[in-house]
Amino acid sequence: MEFQAQQLRDAFRIVVFSGAGISAESGIPTFRDALTGLWERFDPAALATAQAFRNDPALVWGWYEWRRAKVLAAQPNAAHLAIAKLATRVPKLTVVTQNVDDLLERAGCPDVLHLHGSLGSPRCFACARPYKFKGDQLDGREEGRSIEPPRCLHCNGKVRPGVVWFGESLPDDVWRKAVTAAKDCDLLLSVGTWGLVQPAAELPRIALQHEARVVHINVQPEAVAGEREFSLLGRAAEVLPRLVEQAFG
Ligand code: APR
Repeated sequence: MEFQAQQLRDAFRIVVFSGAGISAESGIPTFRDALTGLWERFDPAALATAQAFRNDPALVWGWYEWRRAKVLAAQPNAAHLAIAKLATRVPKLTVVTQNVDDLLERAGCPDVLHLHGSLGSPRCFACARPYKFKGDQLDGREEGRSIEPPRCLHCNGKVRPGVVWFGESLPDDVWRKAVTAAKDCDLLLSVGTWGLVQPAAELPRIALQHEARVVHINVQPEAVAGEREFSLLGRAAEVLPRLVEQAFG
């Protein structure tokens, strides 16, 4: 059975849970798409762990600065904008993302919950104090260039990207808010994620267990079960705006 726009209109408490696929159409590479995904081209163990940063801080910082440069040069796409529009049309919308870009915020989404941190919130690797980028201090234009990380103004420690690396736990308060929203919602839209990485991938299951409807929006078909889970095939920047338009005009 196909998910109807009417069901979106009838929902009171909605969670939008997004992954890299929602930013793909803004030109931001996903992780696992064949050939183009970041983990298809780079070794996550060499770039996305605390040990990798200890081994070669300049390589890791340079790679994240390259990713941050891509995000700064990108624009929110129609999927990000559709979520911002949805936020103005429904009683309660909680936006949860696994992405570390700020495209949802730049599209106008309030209070985005970043389960895996954000490129825009670096902090000291030693004392964990937040670090403020100076202006648009950005020297990561070309891929793969090593860049010495800046130093913490308080303890002179090396500054690390504000993302959650493999082997690190999610920010407690953010995860708790996301789980509460998934338990409380009557509809969860899962957009552009393989649903592989735990614990983030638990959220759609938690919503289903709490009687919500769950809709997977993805270019790949999703195996769905029961009468409350749906798969909407297509590009997020096409499916989401169409769904919001059909529901709210
Ligand atoms: N529209 C909708 N879905 C898309 C699009 C698109 N235009 N392009 C790709 N997709 C889908 C892919 O089919 C895939 O299911 O988006 C998903 C991207 O999956 P991943 O690359 O694995 O990204 P994600 O699920 O967000 O990864 C989760 O893994 O490496 C960690 O921390 C990283 O947050 C990331 C986490």
